[in-house]
Amino acid sequence: MVRVVRATQVEIETAVQALRDGELVAFPTETVYGIGANAQNPAAVRRIFEAKGRPANHPVIVHLDSPKYLHRWVRAVPDGATRLAEAFWPGPLTMVMPRAAHVHDVVTGGQDTIAIRVPGHPMAQQLLTAFGGGIAAPSANRYGRLSPTRAEHVREELGDAVRVVLDGGECQIGLESTIVAFEGPTVRLLRPGSVTAAQIRAVVGELTIGPAQDSARVPGGLPSHYAPVTPLTIVPAGEIDAQADAASGGGKRIAVLAQRLPLRSHKYVTWINAGRRPESYGHDLYNNLRTLDRAGCQRILVQEVPEGERWDAIRDRLLRAATSVAQSDEGSGTLAVLP
Ligand code: TXA
Ligand code: MG
Repeated sequence: MVRVVRATQVEIETAVQALRDGELVAFPTETVYGIGANAQNPAAVRRIFEAKGRPANHPVIVHLDSPKYLHRWVRAVPDGATRLAEAFWPGPLTMVMPRAAHVHDVVTGGQDTIAIRVPGHPMAQQLLTAFGGGIAAPSANRYGRLSPTRAEHVREELGDAVRVVLDGGECQIGLESTIVAFEGPTVRLLRPGSVTAAQIRAVVGELTIGPAQDSARVPGGLPSHYAPVTPLTIVPAGEIDAQADAASGGGKRIAVLAQRLPLRSHKYVTWINAGRRPESYGHDLYNNLRTLDRAGCQRILVQEVPEGERWDAIRDRLLRAATSVAQSDEGSGTLAVLP
């Protein structure tokens, strides 16, 4: 389903005025909803951190309506970034580059780099163009929690801390943008997203996967992020029915996020079949986890997703949402047991 969502002129004017007043505005992007502030107003950006309960040294992404303003924010735009911008902007890609001198420390977490994204959502574009500047915006959730993919999630997460919530319906992609960093000659994938590693490699050649050893810069890179409140365990695909039965023994309520229907009926189990297509699985993931989190269950069991790059972003978010990963009988080499 393709929805073209545009805000009314009055909504956009109200949002722009709020940004100029140093207030927060939540807005839809094609990935997830963001909570935005004028990126050139450090006091306004600080309010984002307060609203989210996020540690102050974590950098935020600056959103622009067009790459033509990159040079205002970036000291030296790497060739590879220019090519990636041509290929994927506007779209679900964020690039970390050397920052321009005037950029405030509160935006960059005091680092020498800045993360920039040109989102494709028509309402985000409308807002950015009308505002005429950069909007600093992390995902519009409480720190460490599930990202919002609907306007009502933003209200649930942040309540009155946000002056304006622009409602653009459900986010098309549903998972946060792919993040790449340019570090000298190295291009590094910091967060997988719907723009895949192969697509980036096709444009820039070599791509190094994962954060540098000395770097704790991506909070989404820490365990226990993108997480529901209910403890979540990843379960090998073939064991999901058996584990649901075992876990719900004695009448304990259990939630399951699977990729098929249950093989038999489980009395105390709330079961969501999220299907086998990564696009729709990713689109629904956070909403499904929110639903299961509210179902009054003691645990959420998630059927392990398939191998392969199309599932990379989903696998990454699930591993960060998980409090534990059940080992398969055959012993899965790729999954570690998280604390
Ligand atoms: O899809 C998205 O990227 C959404 C929408 C709203 O654009 N935004 C989003 O922002 O997911 P946030 O703050 O939740 O995640 C951005 C990540 C954070 O993990 C942050 O640490 C990292 O980007 N980041 C920001 N600036 C950085 C920098 N200069 N160096 C390294 N990582 C950076
Ligand atoms: Mg986030």
